[in-house]
Amino acid sequence: MTTPVIDLQNVSVAYQDKIVLQDITLSVSPGAFLGILGPNGSGKTTLLRTMLGLTDPFDGTVRVFGKEPKKLKRLREKIGYVPQQSHIDLTFPIQVKDVVLLGRAYKMGLGKRPHNQDREAVEEALELVHMTDFADEQFGRLSGGQRQRVLIARALALQPDLLMLDEPTAALDVGAAESFYEWLHNTHKNLGLTLVLVTHDVGVVSRYVTAIACLNKRLVAHGLPENVLTEEGLQAMYGCDAVFFHHGKVPHLVVSTRDPEKT
Ligand SMILES: Nc1ncnc2c1ncn2[C@@H]1O[C@H](COP(=O)(O)OP(=O)(O)OP(=O)(O)O)[C@@H](O)[C@H]1O
Ligand SMILES: [Mg+2]
Repeated sequence: MTTPVIDLQNVSVAYQDKIVLQDITLSVSPGAFLGILGPNGSGKTTLLRTMLGLTDPFDGTVRVFGKEPKKLKRLREKIGYVPQQSHIDLTFPIQVKDVVLLGRAYKMGLGKRPHNQDREAVEEALELVHMTDFADEQFGRLSGGQRQRVLIARALALQPDLLMLDEPTAALDVGAAESFYEWLHNTHKNLGLTLVLVTHDVGVVSRYVTAIACLNKRLVAHGLPENVLTEEGLQAMYGCDAVFFHHGKVPHLVVSTRDPEKT
């Protein structure tokens, strides 16, 4: 049996006394494309952080590429992470190509000068997100959607085996989000990556993912999109106040009004 890229067994996470993830058992096979859905505050970002070893569970085990993520610094070389919020100061005069080069920091070693292979990886990553023409621009002067592409290039510059994206289309308009998912789908196919994507975009993502995990503190559902993305399944996750707009067979948009605290 192949080792799963990510394997969580009975993982529970709390911030101070508040449990935000409870008893999560989930594994992701090599080459899979996992979509994670769930209302605001349901623990999606915390789940990614736990997979990355940035947040420690108080119970359960986490394995990434068969190892404890915290213990292996070099493991980071295999993982690209695009966080929900970037902390790059937009007034800081940094060029796009240097933002992307930051993604190579683990491979290069901090403070080391970039080699040709680092420069090449930056160029390739910018090409992948169609931002080559902006390489010399100042990052803070780009639009929100363009900045998002650059941050994805920063994660790709690592040439990762596993790419985790936390709501990457939040800053994109509907058309741009659609083409972003097309692009992501092709990149997944071409690079043979394992992908983990947090999104609220139920309809779009259901076309591309190989598995879906529905989160609401607990893992409410997990499986193939067609088995998970039923109206009943989504209501179990988002609550009865959710509103669905149908687009083909799959509910297209979900508006959540449930506070997971009250469940
Ligand atoms: N650093 C922190 N300290 C304390 N509580 C936190 C911290 N980060 C998150 N939380 C709490 O943990 C819960 C889950 O947060 P998380 O950010 O994982 O949710 P999410 O599903 O990513 O939400 P969103 O859709 O809004 O991004 C929330 O109730 C949040 O308030
Ligand atoms: Mg989040």
